[in-house]
Amino acid sequence: MKYKKYFRKTSLKQKNIGDLFLKLIQEKNPRSFLEIGVFHGVTARNVCELMFKNHGEQFEYIGIDIFSDSKNYDKEVVPSKTFNNPFKTFYFRFIKRQNPYSLVAVEDLLSKFKKNIKLIVGDTNKIFENLKLKNIEFIFIDGGHDYKTVKNDLEYSYKIISKNGTILCDDWNLSQALGVRKAIEDFSKEKNINFKIVHERFAQFNLF
Ligand SMILES: C[S@@+](CC[C@H](N)C(=O)[O-])C[C@H]1O[C@@H](n2cnc3c(N)ncnc32)[C@H](O)[C@@H]1O
Repeated sequence: MKYKKYFRKTSLKQKNIGDLFLKLIQEKNPRSFLEIGVFHGVTARNVCELMFKNHGEQFEYIGIDIFSDSKNYDKEVVPSKTFNNPFKTFYFRFIKRQNPYSLVAVEDLLSKFKKNIKLIVGDTNKIFENLKLKNIEFIFIDGGHDYKTVKNDLEYSYKIISKNGTILCDDWNLSQALGVRKAIEDFSKEKNINFKIVHERFAQFNLF
C-alpha cells in the first residue's frame, strides 16, 4: 500500500519513508496497533487502512497524544503546526473549521474506522499507570523526543507488547533529538534485547 498524506502534515513526509513504514507493518501483519504521538493522524489513517485491508473489521488502533499547544511542551520536537501551502490553511480554517492537530480533527479523519479506534489524550509521562492496555502486536513510538519520555515509552511498551510483537521507534537519526538514540541504546542494554536500524531512521525491536 502507498502512504497517503490526506492533505495534512506528517513526520513521515518523504514519500519513500511512508511507504517503507507501511511495508514494515505489512511484514508483521498486526491486528492491534498502538501509536504514541498521533499529531494530525496521517499515520493513524494509513495504518487503519492497511489493517482494514488485511483484517476487515477485526483490528484495533489506539493512539495517544497530548494534542496540546501548551508552553510546557515548547521544547518538544513537534512538527511545525503551520502549513506552507495556503490552500491547506484556508481549507482547515474556513471549510473544515478545525485545527488539524486536535482530537476532533483526528476523530474526523478516522471516522470511517470509528468502531476500531481509541484515541487517548494525555502525556505519556503521566497516563500509563492508569491505562489498561495489553497484548498489543505493533507499537510505533513517535511521541515526546526527550530521553526520559522515549525511555518511559519504551519501558511501558515492553510491558504491553504481545509475544512476537514489534516495537518500532522513529527518529533514531534525528540530530535535534539525540536523546531518542540514547534512550533506545540504554533500553536495549538494560533489557538485553537487540534492535535493528531500518533505513537509518527507525529502530526496530522484534520481541519473542
Ligand atoms: C512527530 S509527531 C508525531 C507524528 C505522527 N506519528 C506522524 O507520523 O505523522 C510527535 C507527536 O507527539 C506528541 N507528544 C509529544 N510529547 C508527548 C507526550 N509526552 N505524550 C504524548 N504525546 C506527546 C506531540 O503532540 C506530537 O503530535
